[in-house]
Amino acid sequence: MLSSFKISGLAALSLLSLSANGALVSVPNFGANPTNLLMNIYVPSKLATNPAIILALHGCSGTGEFYASQTKYNSLADTHGFITIFPSANHDNGCWDVASTKTLTHGGGGDSNGLANMISYTISKYNADPKKVFVTGTSSGSMMTNVLAATYPDVFAAASGYSGVAAGCLAGSPSSSPQAADPTCANGKVIKTSAEWTSVVKAMYPGYSGAYPRIQLWHGTADTFVSYANLAEAVKEWSGVIGLTFTKNVTNTPQSGYTQMVYGDGTRFIAYSAAGVGHTVPVHEDVDLKWFGIV
Ligand SMILES: *[C@@H]1O[C@H](CO)[C@@H](O)[C@H](O)[C@H]1NC(C)=O
Repeated sequence: MLSSFKISGLAALSLLSLSANGALVSVPNFGANPTNLLMNIYVPSKLATNPAIILALHGCSGTGEFYASQTKYNSLADTHGFITIFPSANHDNGCWDVASTKTLTHGGGGDSNGLANMISYTISKYNADPKKVFVTGTSSGSMMTNVLAATYPDVFAAASGYSGVAAGCLAGSPSSSPQAADPTCANGKVIKTSAEWTSVVKAMYPGYSGAYPRIQLWHGTADTFVSYANLAEAVKEWSGVIGLTFTKNVTNTPQSGYTQMVYGDGTRFIAYSAAGVGHTVPVHEDVDLKWFGIV
């Protein structure tokens, strides 16, 4: 009696934590998947009408499942009724391809294309709002966040990237992994003017004349793995693409030691410099949800 009570109590407890953690479901056939990515989705039981979608991208050697367990997005999905997609890159040491011409081209048949196809599938299957599609990621996932903002600006309304690099920084590298990539970019030595970065981005989707996503970027000043110098390059890139100039710094925002660098009126591009923080800046889900306009 006692032991069966214990067992069922434990089972109930683990069921509870499973749903609170938002168990991901694998989606084998979401459409064209040219680079064999793995799609994992979390659809909360109380889905909003025309829900928003957050695509959340892991760092190298990561998986969608692990990144989901490291962030609060799925429990926030339970609260707010949005869908999350936590895909896995099962190639190149688990890094997203941010280097090949295919991935750096709209409709080019690379990783970015497969990820965009996961979004199309999710919009049509769950009647999601195509104007509320967001992307975030850490490290390699942030590099891909920048690439998606550049290659699929028509798909994503807003983006938040942690400790990544400008879109196109690794262009031409034989790999996107720390083990095999050209290290110049991660070392912060790919330096371009704002106009040059803007041309790099525009060339990823030639002929596109619509708006680019609202972007916020985070980087730690003590990052020696993906050099802090990359934040300044990404700032030149996106302030150039969106057409904004620096307005002001707001210190100790959203927390002590972080400086919020505001461009334009602060609604389209923000950068956060995290003093003394290494690789990577912790995910700030609450700030992201505000930036996305979900809360
Ligand atoms: C704004 O903050 C950044 C990050 O701390 C710093 O590099 C930059 O010099 C500051 N700009 C001004 C004008 O204070």
